[in-house]
Amino acid sequence: MTATRPLRLLVLCASARTGSVNRALAEAVVRRLAAAGAEADLTGLGDFPVPLYDADLQGREGVPEGAVRLAERLRDHDGLVIVSPEYNYSMPGSLKNLFDWVSRIKPWPTAGVDGLLMSASPGPVGGHRGLLALRVPLEGIGMRLHPTMFSLAKADKAFDASGGLADPGDGARLDAVLDGYLTVVEAVTRYPAARAALAARA
Ligand SMILES: Cc1cc2nc3c(=O)[nH]c(=O)nc-3n(C[C@H](O)[C@H](O)[C@H](O)COP(=O)(O)O)c2cc1C
Repeated sequence: MTATRPLRLLVLCASARTGSVNRALAEAVVRRLAAAGAEADLTGLGDFPVPLYDADLQGREGVPEGAVRLAERLRDHDGLVIVSPEYNYSMPGSLKNLFDWVSRIKPWPTAGVDGLLMSASPGPVGGHRGLLALRVPLEGIGMRLHPTMFSLAKADKAFDASGGLADPGDGARLDAVLDGYLTVVEAVTRYPAARAALAARA
């Protein structure tokens, strides 16, 4: 038996607001991933500062450090979980802008990255429409997005005093989505090594 390392997941929260419900969800996700035996690193857009995309600026100065740093973090991880608010039925412009910059790096740092999309909103739909919109650019730059997504409705009332999900039904739904995603990431991450080991034995 060969020892296997824990899966490494980057959790990117697209809201830095004080009291952000998406941040609360991202923190709950990190705790649940750790409980499942994975290593989860929580980051936010503030860790990857970039100006508004400007082709002339790119021509003069190249791709900004913030986008290069995200590309490096993607390389160091087995998957990317994005937890994002819905803005006007779509994704926050700041999130799209960051990935627009990342897409200027070739080959695409996002190509073949296994992604999982999540949202939280005080509203009744939980930001799900924003995730449907977010799939389009991310799949356009080669990400392999998990088919199932998680949206938390009425999120301003969904957390208990210790930051956990107050409704056990929400917790069970979140765990089911994470379990399905981890199964895929594990297969993608481990299978090439297993195949090489089998080939070496043959
Ligand atoms: C510009 C803007 C647009 C918004 N559009 C939506 C929307 O389409 N759907 C929705 O459910 N909430 C919408 N909201 C409300 C956000 O869901 C709410 O502010 C939420 O708390 C933002 O996430 P955060 O708490 O993680 O910052 C919008 C908020 C802003 C600032």
